[in-house]
Amino acid sequence: MKLGIGCDHGAYEYKTEIVEMLQEQGHEVIDCGCYDRKSVDYPDYAEKVANLVVAGDVDLGIVMCGTGIGISMAANKIKGIRCGLCTNTTMARLTREHNDANMLALGQRTTGIEVA
Ligand code: RB5
Repeated sequence: MKLGIGCDHGAYEYKTEIVEMLQEQGHEVIDCGCYDRKSVDYPDYAEKVANLVVAGDVDLGIVMCGTGIGISMAANKIKGIRCGLCTNTTMARLTREHNDANMLALGQRTTGIEVA
């Protein structure tokens, strides 16, 4: 699967681990940043990933911030985006099955890397 990924500074380490894991699983990843711990605005990264999803350049998008709340709100402002903020695997499965989510939001501070 081809995935667009993005985060703010609050989830930089988390994104790095998740990108690595997805690539090991054989997924193609377009990493939209951010690329370090320097403070950035999460809506910018939500928009970069959302635009890839809306354009059909990727199959699905994943965005991350400290809680996943801000970046999911920002993604959902973009027409065509249905971004589900999930804290467990049941929510992730159900947001695909019931909401046809095309983006997933995760929080580094709220969802452990094993669950992610
Ligand atoms: C950044 O400090 C933090 O506010 C952000 O990552 C996120 O948690 C917002 O919802």
